Amino acid sequence: MTAQHPLALGIHDLAIATGHHVLDLDDLAAANGVDPAKYHVGIGQDAFSVPAPDEDIVTMGATAAKEVLDRHGVEGIRTVLFATESGVDQSKAAGVYVHGLLGLPRNVRVVELKQACYGGTAAVQMALGIIARDPSERVLVIAADVARYDVETAAEPTQGAGAVAMLIAADPDLIELEPQSGLFTADVDDFWRPNDRSTALVDGRLSVTAYVDAFIGAWDDLADRGGPGIEAIDRFVHHQPFTKMAIKAHRKLAQHVDVPFEETELAVGFTYNRQTGNTYTASLWIALGALLDLDDDLAGARIGMFSYGSGSVGELMTGIVRPDHQQHRRTGRVHEMLAARVPLSVEAYRELHAAGAATSEDVERPRVTTAPFRFAGVSGGARHYEATGA
Ligand code: COA
Repeated sequence: MTAQHPLALGIHDLAIATGHHVLDLDDLAAANGVDPAKYHVGIGQDAFSVPAPDEDIVTMGATAAKEVLDRHGVEGIRTVLFATESGVDQSKAAGVYVHGLLGLPRNVRVVELKQACYGGTAAVQMALGIIARDPSERVLVIAADVARYDVETAAEPTQGAGAVAMLIAADPDLIELEPQSGLFTADVDDFWRPNDRSTALVDGRLSVTAYVDAFIGAWDDLADRGGPGIEAIDRFVHHQPFTKMAIKAHRKLAQHVDVPFEETELAVGFTYNRQTGNTYTASLWIALGALLDLDDDLAGARIGMFSYGSGSVGELMTGIVRPDHQQHRRTGRVHEMLAARVPLSVEAYRELHAAGAATSEDVERPRVTTAPFRFAGVSGGARHYEATGA
């Protein structure tokens, strides 16, 4: 398997962060009078992360980005792209707070991107364009979200929280992203969040068909552009609002291209997402992180990565895992982070949920998180963040 681009461009590093708390879906099933198998098997989720009152997309995104910068420094970074669909301000980019928290240099541009769960992929594509023009640059991409639906709705078990930070660079350590990708856009109201709401609205059944249509449409576009055949793609990871979605879509693709499909083929990429819940823009990249950490036979493998953002935009990218990627594995670190989350009762989670709506009123947040950064509160309408010293 050889790269098509004269210079390998791709993901040099990838770090994952999540919320301080966790809700076990067995507990939610009991509270909702639902068979737990519906959540574990029917939806394919085991738990979801819940941010502490002093956490949000900025603190999670900064935590993930700090890990990347601790390893690689800031050299060459002139762009920070922050993708989210749970933004904390209608004007100021969340990445500007991260820029301040991390002490990034002044000569850096920062911008926020939005198209539902697809925004992280748009950021990666923009980053690739920047480093293709000047390969001495590196771009910090952050994708962070808090997935919030109303309580006691069908979507409640598919909430979650998390962030990914990636360093996009030439001659990457982890994965070379290939230049061809498949695209698909359709105007559809399967999931959205109006400006006066802090919880999303979703037509769950429609989101399944819209997602599957986007996956097949992106596949066909990639094929039309001379992309690799199914036999040349060794693994797949998907955006996973709940992991069963990836199974449904992949089953359809297998029928479309007439190959057999076993659900277990996708299981490794589900490992972290089953625990974090939906992380919107970060979801696909958390799946990729799990694959890179936990699949022992990836060197030189071609990975298909399907990104979907409701509304809707889909993109199927491919990448070749670098031969020495195992030297840069973070195996164990994410498991430790997930295991360290503090469990919540359903009652405590619902109290936090009720208090979680966005506000511009003056408020001080209690000190709860043990992450490196915290959301201190709001004064004069402005949000304040600080390092915790952790
Ligand atoms: N054991 C095993 N499976 C069970 C079960 C049990 N006891 N009870 C139900 N199930 C299965 C159902 O058969 C169904 O499986 P299928 O889809 O393969 O047929 C699955 O569990 C879900 O149950 P269903 O009743 O169809 O769905 P729901 O009304 O509870 O809603 C979602 C499920 C996923 C649609 C809902 O949680 C949702 O809308 N989530 C948000 C999705 C989203 O974010 N979309 C936008 C981003 S792409």
